[in-house]
Amino acid sequence: MKVIISGDHAGMTIRNEVKSLLEEMGIEYEDTGCSCETSVDYPDYALPAAQRVADGEFDRGILICGTGIGMSIAANKVKGIRCALTHDVYSAKLTRMHNDSNMIAMGERVIGPGLAREIAKVWLETDFDGGRHANRIGKIAEYEGQ
Ligand code: RB5
Repeated sequence: MKVIISGDHAGMTIRNEVKSLLEEMGIEYEDTGCSCETSVDYPDYALPAAQRVADGEFDRGILICGTGIGMSIAANKVKGIRCALTHDVYSAKLTRMHNDSNMIAMGERVIGPGLAREIAKVWLETDFDGGRHANRIGKIAEYEGQ
């Protein structure tokens, strides 16, 4: 699995925590987040990362900002992206099983690095259930026109 991770100036601590998790799990990743000496605009980081997932260059993407909200909104504008805003482990598991989410977003002003690590781990390890859920996400793809 290849993962892209990105984020703005408000998500540096969690971004580093998730990167150490990816290294421990032996997962190949690229960090396209800001170096963050100054304040940046989250769409400039969320949109290119989401596009690279949609293009198939990466299997999954993880986005970190202050709340996770701005980056999730931006990522979900990219055709083919199902980005879930996840701040609990149950949602992280279920969004893989039911939504086949290919991205998650988390907010560093909302949760701490320990929980973010658990969320990312469960999300990376959980498979899509398929079946009736494939039919449902198919309806979203149909609406998107792809
Ligand atoms: C930056 O201050 C903040 O707005 C951003 O990180 C994010 O929370 C937006 O949704």
